[in-house]
Amino acid sequence: MRIWLDTADIKEIREASRLGVVSGVTTNPSLAAKAGHSDLKSAVLEICSIIDGPVCAEVLSQDPYEMIHEGRRIASWAPKVVVKIPVGEAGIEAISVLSKEGIAVNQTLTFSVNQAILGGLAGAAYVSPFVGRLDDVGQDGMKLVSEIVEVFNTHDIRTKVLAASLRHPMHVVEAARVGAHIATMPYKVLKQMFHHPLTDAGLKKFMEDWRSLARV
Ligand code: E4P
Repeated sequence: MRIWLDTADIKEIREASRLGVVSGVTTNPSLAAKAGHSDLKSAVLEICSIIDGPVCAEVLSQDPYEMIHEGRRIASWAPKVVVKIPVGEAGIEAISVLSKEGIAVNQTLTFSVNQAILGGLAGAAYVSPFVGRLDDVGQDGMKLVSEIVEVFNTHDIRTKVLAASLRHPMHVVEAARVGAHIATMPYKVLKQMFHHPLTDAGLKKFMEDWRSLARV
């Protein structure tokens, strides 16, 4: 499973990229607004210069023709840019057209297996089930990821399953176990993955023991 960063914060992306484990970035309008990017194209191009992998930027249009036009424009920014399109009738139409043109699309706001099947058949490169947002309303978000993986495997649908809206390190473990191809996560969650109390305690003890020998 690949790790992508779910942020539009350039400082976070620069820091995380130094770890050598991040192979893509997802942004959305909320994340871009939070990071203060009034010029999305410049922000996405800066992220592309940092990350050696796909960078997702979302359309703002709602109408299928406008989505297609906007998707083509976003895709022209750089070869590694992936166009994010929300699922729905307009979205599926836009995904079908753009995918046939060879443009990589990430179907976003996916909350059901049916939506994922439609995205897969429309040719989306990625579908993004939103785990945390389903958990928030009392549904099992990871079960959806697992079911999409199973259906895509059964029917040889090549669309990659991108587990999104991850909120904590156990979401990452579960996404890996159920076979998600990618987990996109906030930088905070990536940093939580490093830590274990026994690692901290073990390191402290190693240092104490070494210092006690050095004193002898
Ligand atoms: C990524 O593609 C999604 O936009 C993101 O994971 C949504 O996360 P949230 O539910 O924490 O806003």
